[in-house]
Amino acid sequence: MDRRPIGVFDSGLGGLTAVRELARLMPEEDLVYFGDTGRVPYGGRSRDILIKYARQDTAFLRSFDPKAIVIACGTVSTTALDVLQRENDIPIFGVVEPAVRAAALASQNHRVGLIGTRASIRSGAYERLLARLHPGAEVTARACPLFVPLVENGRFLPGDIVAETVAAEYLAPIQAAGVDTLILGCTHYPLLKPVIGAYMGPGVTLIDVGAQCARWTAERLDRAGLRAGGTGTGRHRFYVSDSTEDFAALASVFLREDVGSEVEQIDITEYEGAARPAGAGQG
Ligand code: DGL
Repeated sequence: MDRRPIGVFDSGLGGLTAVRELARLMPEEDLVYFGDTGRVPYGGRSRDILIKYARQDTAFLRSFDPKAIVIACGTVSTTALDVLQRENDIPIFGVVEPAVRAAALASQNHRVGLIGTRASIRSGAYERLLARLHPGAEVTARACPLFVPLVENGRFLPGDIVAETVAAEYLAPIQAAGVDTLILGCTHYPLLKPVIGAYMGPGVTLIDVGAQCARWTAERLDRAGLRAGGTGTGRHRFYVSDSTEDFAALASVFLREDVGSEVEQIDITEYEGAARPAGAGQG
């Protein structure tokens, strides 16, 4: 039994797709979430900047003495997972492997679509792993940089003409490739699932990387004997690097719980991401 919280971070709202599933699977666990809303989006940034941000986000969460950290961000998972695992002596989980394993299982026609931020697509991380786990799979990948600002501005509901127009433009070549599985390779994208699903049609399985990563995390914490145990309800705390109001409003809608009193603003630049001595990070 381990009562320490689980730390989760993303550039903004997207990581809530992991939080929602973590809370469903492990209601007794305390969760501490950091959304770097002052610096979102991450997806167009260089590797060096992403590693710097990832170290700061991790250093902030480590101030809560977490038993594990979930990188609920495709961009950071594809760019800095190995760095964070090397530098931290607690388990650090990313979204790529859980998502790719789910896609490899789901695809029957060996045609897989992949959408993500520019940094995630540029990294090639999803494709490399898919080539290992599902040899011969044909991947059609596309960066969708406008999806993140749409989500951060609450423009993700079906019927939103802007979201639907942008989705149609991004997804047309993926649909034309005849994929039967689409990896939503950025944790913001599942908020657009109704819009994306309506365009792709019922024959395409959508892989939610945040939810897959949450399942992966729950299984690994179980196996390592790190679950909190008991039947209580865990506390969910949220921290952001910009003002709290918009985040609290959108998070409350998405999580279907009023998180208003649990959202606080912090200065992430105070956490310089001093690496801890190398330990056995796991993933
Ligand atoms: N939600 C993140 C991801 O999964 C970051 C998106 C962004 O900030 O560009 O990639």
